[in-house]
Amino acid sequence: MITEVKNNLASSLLSILRDKKSEGVSFRSAVEKLTFLLVERALSNLPSNKVVIDTPVESNAEVSVLNDEVVFVPILRAGLLMLHPAISIYEKGRIGFAGVYRNEETLKPNLYYFKVPVIKDAFYFILDPMLATGGTAVCVVEKLLKLGINPGKIKFISFVSAPEGIEKLKKFSGIEIFTASIDRCLNDKGYILPGLGDAGDRFCYTEGVEVVEDYGI
Ligand code: URA
Repeated sequence: MITEVKNNLASSLLSILRDKKSEGVSFRSAVEKLTFLLVERALSNLPSNKVVIDTPVESNAEVSVLNDEVVFVPILRAGLLMLHPAISIYEKGRIGFAGVYRNEETLKPNLYYFKVPVIKDAFYFILDPMLATGGTAVCVVEKLLKLGINPGKIKFISFVSAPEGIEKLKKFSGIEIFTASIDRCLNDKGYILPGLGDAGDRFCYTEGVEVVEDYGI
């Protein structure tokens, strides 16, 4: 299932991210706010529990609370910028990390880092701004499934999603995607069109500078 969060505020924040002239404070601030909107929508779909509390003026008032365990799993690098707004909206969320790189010979995604708490009945929110080919997403989802996590407990949060990536995730029935836009397609380099460019470089402010990669392999 896919939920496209397409209100005026979300679309206007996404426009800031898409604009190649955006950088620095305004860019990062839009990342924070858009993540907040998407995570808010995903959280509001979780079941709530009824509990009884005393308000200052009445005893035994029945109220609804979100009481579920949530584990946020940002995919390195770009997903890391979505972590702070995610835990600021759900402070008791637990945190895991997944790192995936593409093998330049096989072009296959490889999981080089995975440290995720296994919590019974928890919801897992995978944070990755771009759902492009779906290779990275599938790699992380398969790892979670191997731990015994039910696909119905997995939410994939992305700013921009390509139809190709959405199709790949659809094979895991029950996973929900929350995105601010379903874009047109991928180009021949795997970038989403119209997209927002290289999310890792733009979010980490590393466009045009040398970045050393070492996976310890
Ligand atoms: N990853 C990115 O950073 N951007 C895209 O457009 C696709 C994948």
